[in-house]
Amino acid sequence: MIIGAFFLLWVSTTFGCTQAGEGTDRASTTVVFKHGKLSGDGRVLSDLLRDFERRHPGLLIREELLPADSDRQHQYYAMNLDGGKAPFDLLAIDTIWAQEFAKAGWIAPLDEVLTPTEREDFFPGPIEAATFQGRLYAVPWYVDAGVLYYRRDLLDRHGFEPPHTWPELARIAKLVLDGEQDSKLAGFVWQGKQYEGLMCVALEVLRSNGTDLWSGDRDRAEYGLRFLRETIATHGITPLSTSMADEESTRWIFGEGHALFMRNWPYAWSMLQQEGSPVRGKVGVIPLPAFPGFRSAPVLGGWMLAMPNNSTQQEIVRELISFLTSPDTQHRIAMELGYNPVRRALYTDESLLELRPLLKDLYPILLGAKPRPVTPYYLLVSQAVQPEVSAVVVGRRSPAEALGIIRRRVEQIMGEQTSPARLGRS
Ligand code: GLC
Repeated sequence: MIIGAFFLLWVSTTFGCTQAGEGTDRASTTVVFKHGKLSGDGRVLSDLLRDFERRHPGLLIREELLPADSDRQHQYYAMNLDGGKAPFDLLAIDTIWAQEFAKAGWIAPLDEVLTPTEREDFFPGPIEAATFQGRLYAVPWYVDAGVLYYRRDLLDRHGFEPPHTWPELARIAKLVLDGEQDSKLAGFVWQGKQYEGLMCVALEVLRSNGTDLWSGDRDRAEYGLRFLRETIATHGITPLSTSMADEESTRWIFGEGHALFMRNWPYAWSMLQQEGSPVRGKVGVIPLPAFPGFRSAPVLGGWMLAMPNNSTQQEIVRELISFLTSPDTQHRIAMELGYNPVRRALYTDESLLELRPLLKDLYPILLGAKPRPVTPYYLLVSQAVQPEVSAVVVGRRSPAEALGIIRRRVEQIMGEQTSPARLGRS
């Protein structure tokens, strides 16, 4: 009994529901839209949904929120989609799950929502990630790529240009920290908690050294992992608390003015520029650094909209997905929430660029961003890799040991059909 009550409490706090719709009794059709908590003003999406409702009398769209953390959302969806009785009609999925959900038969094909010609206007990476065995199972909603934020004012004060390489970043951060003598100031913050965000950081660092986690040159891979650990242990530019940090906690530290450099997704930009932000007007954004001789290698991220196979509202949900990914809605989401549109034409839209000039610089970064392996087994791979990378970050495992374990496990998971070499190329 008590355990039951605790379970209910846990479910409601962990996967807490927020209903944004109004007047359930008047509605003849209810669509439940499940998605992670978006950063920024939650009213923007609610307003859009109300617009859609007004065009469809009798329709009620109920938003139910999940925590922002990708792994926790995955856990919820895997639990609820398996068995074909999902208590929702529309869901926002991380770009890395579409293959898995499609293969499991959890989500329905959406080919008619986006014709092949229309797909050409989208970034190709997310479309590829959403396509399983030739059919489109999700429609990209917004797109992400890792970028480096820096404090322009601090670099200027110490006479430095923004760094292009990781060693340069470490050197500049050390010198600025020495010069500032501010015990609260961190040199470089990134997502070091054991979760998908850490996977992205590790991939970006290793790929920008010409290698990868599960394949490619082993020495360079060890070197990349060692660099991550050394930002904390040797260079002293990254606080130990980074080993527990996610996107929002790093944004908070940087946003309060307590960090010189930050790795994050582009969403943070508009929040850092908001009125009242301590760092407003003092921040620059550039591509992530690389190791000397290699190129910046941001990971492709982003979210998509999908429909559970068992939804009883298929027609209206398809229409809603089409509305939420239409050029107008994408424009509004980019304008008001600062999320990057998936439709490429918007990156030359004057009215948007006027308010969000950063989009112009982001375009080549987003276009060149490298996906995580597009495979139904990605989550298994990620869950096997995360604890090992995390153990290196906190100094419990050597990079060599961790890499040995990672490569063995990934090989096991992927079996003979999909070799690690193929993962590396995807
Ligand atoms: C962002 C990205 C997503 C990624 C996640 C990791 O939400 O859009 O693709 O998996 O961060 O934390």
